[in-house]
Amino acid sequence: MIIVFAQQKGGAGKTTVLAHLAHAWANGRKSVALVDLDPQRSLSSWAGHQRDHDYTVIESAGWRAGSDIKDMARKHQVTLVDCPGNASNLLEAAVRESDLVLVPCQPSVLDAWASAPVLEMARREKTPARIVLNRVPPRGTAVDMIREVLKEQDAEILNTTLGNRVAFSNGFAAATTALGLARSSPATREVMALMKEVEKLLK
Ligand SMILES: Nc1ncnc2c1ncn2[C@@H]1O[C@H](COP(=O)(O)OP(=O)(O)O)[C@@H](O)[C@H]1O
Ligand SMILES: [Mg+2]
Repeated sequence: MIIVFAQQKGGAGKTTVLAHLAHAWANGRKSVALVDLDPQRSLSSWAGHQRDHDYTVIESAGWRAGSDIKDMARKHQVTLVDCPGNASNLLEAAVRESDLVLVPCQPSVLDAWASAPVLEMARREKTPARIVLNRVPPRGTAVDMIREVLKEQDAEILNTTLGNRVAFSNGFAAATTALGLARSSPATREVMALMKEVEKLLK
């Protein structure tokens, strides 16, 4: 399965959510390939820095992206693709090859608006797309408002949401992810639930 992480808004959590799902699948003995299309190379840096698994990591760009993704998908059970912020030809090629586009979105109306171009692109390419609400506060009405804004864009939202938790950033600092910090923590439970929901969706 090929999953592309895309969202025009920088800092929405593409690399963070991708790395946590990679760790969850690798813990489950799935072979995981990471394709880094972002010139900032955050995903490759994390992969080189973490000590849990030997992921196959490829940095790709331009006209090679589509064939690199397909090549990785032939050799691995799970291929995760990290995208740069802007909606480029590169993103279009990645979305075309993928089974699912995951769009991390923080509970801010700016993030919700910024999700529209990639959702539109996924629709054009006939690839399913889902919003993952990220950094959701434990209480408050902000997230309900964002759900409304997203629904107006006909966006489909995953049931699992990720909280705003230090474990998500501290895991990276400790050369792992939240899963490596604690076998059972709110962050770990959320990631496992997200993995299961995505698996079910793609079955
Ligand atoms: N659920 C979360 N809780 C706490 N911090 C988060 C969460 N998701 C992302 N972050 C932090 O937000 C910042 C941006 O995340 P990142 O994954 O780099 O976004 P993107 O790849 O979309 O630009 C990072 O510092 C990351 O640690
Ligand atoms: Mg990133």
